[in-house]
Amino acid sequence: MATRRPIVAGNWKLHGSRQTSRALAVAVAEGLAGIDLGPARLRGENPPLEVLLCPPFVYLAELAELVAASHLRLGAQDVAVEEAGAFTGEVAAAMLRDVGCRYVITGHSERRALFGDTDERVAGKVLAALRAGLSPILCVGETRAERDAGDTLTVVRRQLQVVLEALDSGQVSAAERQMMSVAYEPVWAIGTGLTATPADAQAVHADIRATVGRRDATMASALRVLYGGSVKVSNAKDLFAMQDIDGGLIGGAALLAGEFVSICKAAAS
Ligand code: PGA
Repeated sequence: MATRRPIVAGNWKLHGSRQTSRALAVAVAEGLAGIDLGPARLRGENPPLEVLLCPPFVYLAELAELVAASHLRLGAQDVAVEEAGAFTGEVAAAMLRDVGCRYVITGHSERRALFGDTDERVAGKVLAALRAGLSPILCVGETRAERDAGDTLTVVRRQLQVVLEALDSGQVSAAERQMMSVAYEPVWAIGTGLTATPADAQAVHADIRATVGRRDATMASALRVLYGGSVKVSNAKDLFAMQDIDGGLIGGAALLAGEFVSICKAAAS
């Protein structure tokens, strides 16, 4: 693991109830407090690891209060491009900040594939998040067909470039750029039990950093690039040991407190 502070984010997707969400958040907070990471440091301003829970929108405010005393942070699973107005069903970045949320997942492949998020819309969401002081986690990744056609890097670079161009044209400051992270999530690995090998993932992560670096070297060296796609305890350590893998975006395994805490341990060690 490089010197960048890793992030482990649990993407709860469309799962759970008010009761199970509270129980899961409490169990994760307790599990992390009990592990040998130097709990005092974990609770301080600069913990060695950032751990995020990304529940459905409706549970964010309540969970923010519940985990306020712990080192856990909250993220949303999506955000509106627009700041306010007649956009029924949308949730604005400022509203997320307002309820204690600090991060937001943008461009998850499920939003891209099922809800029509284009590269341009995703870029708009990243800008909206940054303008409201939220840290966006930009998801990129290729489908099975794109990988089989040898197009992995072309696809990932395109998804990234559109956002990088938006950062330039939106005159996003150096400090704001540091708030963004990227999650490389090969679509074929999400929820399938298949995982990219550490070496394959590392190759894409290094390319992501290099692509960012061609525009902004300072941003690239500080950029956290998370891996996502069937991360579990059994593969987390090998993935996180790679030089350009700075943590993980965890789906299914994030719904199991013990499994998620063990993945966090792997990222912190
Ligand atoms: P998974 O999901 O860990 O269940 O594969 C990851 C994600 O979709 O972020």
